[in-house]
Amino acid sequence: MAESPIYNPSTPLADLAQSLRQAQRVVALTGAGVSAESGVPTFRGPGGLWRNHRPEDLATPQAFKRDPRLVWEWYDWRRGLIAKVSPNPGHRALADLEHLVPEFTLITQNVDGLHRLAGSRNVLEIHGSIWEVRCTGCGRVAEDRRVPLPLMPYCEACGALLRPNVVWFGEALDPARLQTAHEALRLAEIMLVAGTSGVVQPAASFALWAKESGARLVEINPDPTPLTPYCDWVFQGKSGEVLPALLAAMKTVPV
Ligand code: APR
Repeated sequence: MAESPIYNPSTPLADLAQSLRQAQRVVALTGAGVSAESGVPTFRGPGGLWRNHRPEDLATPQAFKRDPRLVWEWYDWRRGLIAKVSPNPGHRALADLEHLVPEFTLITQNVDGLHRLAGSRNVLEIHGSIWEVRCTGCGRVAEDRRVPLPLMPYCEACGALLRPNVVWFGEALDPARLQTAHEALRLAEIMLVAGTSGVVQPAASFALWAKESGARLVEINPDPTPLTPYCDWVFQGKSGEVLPALLAAMKTVPV
């Protein structure tokens, strides 16, 4: 084995790097924590409240029916914030990982679009995109990057009210996307779980499905989560630091 100043197989990071280099199929699941270092507040951490509203109280079909202007104001505020930020080293490391693994699927709960902006291609945005709108009348979906949005926004085609094309609490995920995610989870040899509190279903169950099908689990999060006890490797740190270190270690693994 070639000598390398960085490669030290006795550290958990190097051990994982080596396993990832040998893997054919890898899945990553990301949550709001991966965008935290870009300046996007997480939902359940500090800054998770907006005007004292919890996301669970705004991101629902009932809240939109009761007060669509309030819900749109929240999304407009988030769109304004996200439009100003850039992908961070964690996003970029995941985009790089796609080139080092034969089959890599990135499943994200994030609606901010930062993974694609960082260069990830095989991305399943299971909660939709904050940059798309859907008509509550005719169902038409369109990209809409206006910041700020006119409040309230209406459909150009039929005049009905638009809504964000995201999945709210109590709504089903897109079945085709869910099916693709299932398949990737079933086949994964290793699954990385980064920046998610692991409390919102169905994503919270994805790691356990993958584990049941034989995947080894990796968690990257500064704090423990309900998934931590099931993980084979746990890195208690920021994804913007751990993921680039992992990629650097992978690049030094003798192949
Ligand atoms: N690096 C990695 N993880 C981090 C970082 C960081 N720099 N900063 C915070 N975290 C972790 C937190 O410890 C927490 O476990 O990110 C997680 C963020 O959790 P949530 O805010 O609950 O976000 P997420 O799990 O993505 O929420 C799931 O809930 O509100 C809905 O639809 C919304 O997609 C969202 C879903």
